[in-house]
Amino acid sequence: MKPAACEFPLALIGLLQTCEFIVVLTGAGVSAESGVPTFRDAQTGFWSQFDPQELATPQAFQRNPDLVWNWYEWRRELISRAKPNAGHYALVEMERRFPDFILITQNVDSLHQQAGSGKSAELIELHGNIWRNKCFIENAILTKWDETGEAAPRCPRCGGFVRPDVVWFNESLPQVELTRAWQAAQKSQVFFSIGTSGLVQPAASLPYIAQQHGAVVVEINPDTTPLSRDASYVLRGFAGKILPALIEAVWGA
Ligand code: OAD
Repeated sequence: MKPAACEFPLALIGLLQTCEFIVVLTGAGVSAESGVPTFRDAQTGFWSQFDPQELATPQAFQRNPDLVWNWYEWRRELISRAKPNAGHYALVEMERRFPDFILITQNVDSLHQQAGSGKSAELIELHGNIWRNKCFIENAILTKWDETGEAAPRCPRCGGFVRPDVVWFNESLPQVELTRAWQAAQKSQVFFSIGTSGLVQPAASLPYIAQQHGAVVVEINPDTTPLSRDASYVLRGFAGKILPALIEAVWGA
């Protein structure tokens, strides 16, 4: 059921019609309607016996590089079948509508880029990208390697294992992207937190940094999160439904 335009607070509609600097933080919930399971969803099939937090760590990779590499191959195959959904495309439309728009994503699936985000505005990938790979030892991006018969390929330079270029638990985020995200949050007039449980730092602090610098914070999520009680507006529902309806409410059909 698509939310009617009148369901949005008039003050929010008025603010979006006049403000200039919008920052959006997205999480796995934005890709859920494309068929990509979120992190808090139970995993399916063979992988249901594993906890992502037991697989997405440097320690897990050192213990069993083939298992972790195969888990990412399974996720890449699943994501390769996913297409951007109405929520992704609505964010591309928002990018076009605001003079200053920055999209910060925790997602590693490239669905924002596939929809067209990042063409006319900044797109910051806080947690890396599952389609990029790097040497576990040198940390340098790798685009080709020799197949060795093992599942996890080897770096052609140093012989170390190849790993996905995504941030694992117990790892720090890429400093350049994190600094840009902090600066964007501080300058934003409206900060959207969409499809994220707000449980993982430092991304979960970004809406609070924005709020401390005077931004209006809007949460879009079907469920309650720790941010729900602090956000200026909570739009309870699916991103793929709420975002297109919000665009219609602010700028007309
Ligand atoms: P989670 O799986 O923790 O949370 C997904 C959120 O999206 C939940 O609050 C859901 O209620 C919500 N949701 C589900 N379907 C939705 C929809 N159609 N529209 C809007 N919201 C929806 O995923 P993240 O918050 O992204 O970190 O997780 C943050 C980080 O934790 C991930 O980036 C990953 C994980 O560990 C790394 O990989 C480093």
